[in-house]
Amino acid sequence: MRLLIQGGRVVDPARNIDSQLDILIENGTIAHQGRGLSAEGAQVLDAAGLVVSPGLVDMHVHLREPGFEAKETVATGCAAAAKGGVTTLVAMPNTRPATDCPDIVALVREKAAPTGVDVLPAGAVTVGQKGQALTDLAALKAAGVPALTDDGMPIQDLALLREAMFQAKELGLPLLDHCEDRDLVRSYAVNEGAVSAQLGLPGRPAIAEELQIMRDVMLAEDTGAHVHICHISTAKGVDIVRRAKARGVRVTCETCPQYFTLTEEEVLCQGAMARVNPPLRTQADVEGIRAGLLDGTIDAIVTDHAPHTAEEKSRPLPDAPSGMVGLETSLALALTGLYHTGLLSLSRVLALMSSSPAALLGLSKGMLCVGRGADLVLFDPEEEWVIDKEQFVSKGRNTPFHGRTVRGKVKYTISRGTIIYQEG
Ligand code: DOR
Ligand code: ZN
Repeated sequence: MRLLIQGGRVVDPARNIDSQLDILIENGTIAHQGRGLSAEGAQVLDAAGLVVSPGLVDMHVHLREPGFEAKETVATGCAAAAKGGVTTLVAMPNTRPATDCPDIVALVREKAAPTGVDVLPAGAVTVGQKGQALTDLAALKAAGVPALTDDGMPIQDLALLREAMFQAKELGLPLLDHCEDRDLVRSYAVNEGAVSAQLGLPGRPAIAEELQIMRDVMLAEDTGAHVHICHISTAKGVDIVRRAKARGVRVTCETCPQYFTLTEEEVLCQGAMARVNPPLRTQADVEGIRAGLLDGTIDAIVTDHAPHTAEEKSRPLPDAPSGMVGLETSLALALTGLYHTGLLSLSRVLALMSSSPAALLGLSKGMLCVGRGADLVLFDPEEEWVIDKEQFVSKGRNTPFHGRTVRGKVKYTISRGTIIYQEG
């Protein structure tokens, strides 16, 4: 099986390459790169006008299977990933049963195998994500998990959390940390501020996120564990990470398109569709997130793809579940919000979505070197299109970006040399 990608603009951020090159793929790996390559009998993809970059690595995705197949299955989630240019993803453990033992890791990987997307299930830190007893973290590591997390259900027992950090450090696994103090946020629906006041609802204050970031940065410093702050959403939170990094603490963080694009105001017109944890914040926070992306404090852009059913999202705001889908829109939103606005270079946006998360997880992904597995995305960086949730291949239609015009469209996604998505 040979595939020749001809005439594209190859952007490989980890190697600082941005140049017109052909890429020859043989038996699933990158065999050659250069100008004017030819290969007898190879399938040729004309990439003229397209950017050719490493397949995207999304380190925060909820696939919902096992247990919540009405929201999403591994197959539909992976189809959405492929359509969004994502070739590797980390699947969050809040399934039913939770991914708290090797059997569930194996089950998810088995379901994902035929899709071509490399699905790496994260292991739960506590049994059933109940925050009471640690899972067998070594067994999860042996089963191949790239990271540990109780995402969505942050551990509040600090003795347990500290012990988890010591073990995670020994095992060489990062701890992915959803930072919101549970007593401060309860099950509230929106940011605490002008919008919650206007709606007469109790809110989730920014301090709930910032306190936990501060706490867990200190625990990372104390234990030597690598703590990765999930979906950071506040300007002060970014600043805490910035200062911790400057002191040499092993802390990294990620954000999502919704946090550098939208504010809490969205809840006023979109209701539950704009409900997510942590919540959409203020314009000052959006600017703080952008500053963190610009100065390198933020290491990765992820989706936190969190599909829910139409029925669930049609409930009144206080009763609807939190979360939004993102796999099919993340590249376009990042290009639109960060690259086309002139804030970041194309290479920098792609680094945040491929090589940087791969590196922080210790994966040999996100780079187009000869000899590596051929995971690539080919996209038109200029094409304008309108996000239409009815066109999603995800089961989840819960996006606050429906109807928005964006710029940048995925044309092909290639995983280990096989085309797993092709537009049209
Ligand atoms: O909004 C969210 N939805 N935040 C989380 O942390 C969990 C996620 C979900 O699983 O629906
Ligand atoms: Zn989370």
